[in-house]
Amino acid sequence: MPKREALKVVANVAVGPYALVRVERGGLDPGVPGQFFMLEAPGRPLPRPMSLCQAPPGELSFLLEAVGPGTRALAAVQPGQEINIFGPLGNGYRLDVEQPLLVGGGIGVAPFPYLSQQLGGPPAILGFRSDWHAEAAALVLNARVVVEPTLVTELLPEGHDVLACGPEPMLEAVRELAPRAQLAWEAPMACGYGACYGCSVEIDGVLQRLCVAGPVLEAVA
Ligand code: FES
Repeated sequence: MPKREALKVVANVAVGPYALVRVERGGLDPGVPGQFFMLEAPGRPLPRPMSLCQAPPGELSFLLEAVGPGTRALAAVQPGQEINIFGPLGNGYRLDVEQPLLVGGGIGVAPFPYLSQQLGGPPAILGFRSDWHAEAAALVLNARVVVEPTLVTELLPEGHDVLACGPEPMLEAVRELAPRAQLAWEAPMACGYGACYGCSVEIDGVLQRLCVAGPVLEAVA
């Protein structure tokens, strides 16, 4: 069950250009990998959706990229400050897969440390725009890394159950090659539980509220 709690920041660690924010777990359930939490930075009214990155005992951690005022404020939190967190929300990855392969791009690798741990460390192919961004690959077991202009889809082997997260063009390219892939999509979210329709996106001609139907959707051929 999702819950809302004010959780204390334990650490904020730079990982390349990203911030790995660790908070006390409190009474929150870490949920299924790929589910997300709404994080509210101190003094900022609008929460931001973040997938869970790691769930060590007693903690939750989130990998953040500062791209606007809300994410900048979250990425700047200091140990001892409190963040309001609500979750877990949405649908995560289906874990009953035989030959898992994680495929991610950029900040899309955020849910993979927890996902990889839950799946026993399957192979991963991760793409980044620079070596600096690629430092985030150190968080994911068994990761093979490519840096632009090489694309993850150039290395995609056949015969795997693909679980992917990344920018939309990457997800579209992945599902061309792996039609049964589980894809985690991104959209701006205001409420996180189906009330505001702010996260509606059209996928295959169907309007979906990603916070309820996703973020993880099975690709359709
Ligand atoms: Fe409000 Fe999805 S974020 S309906």
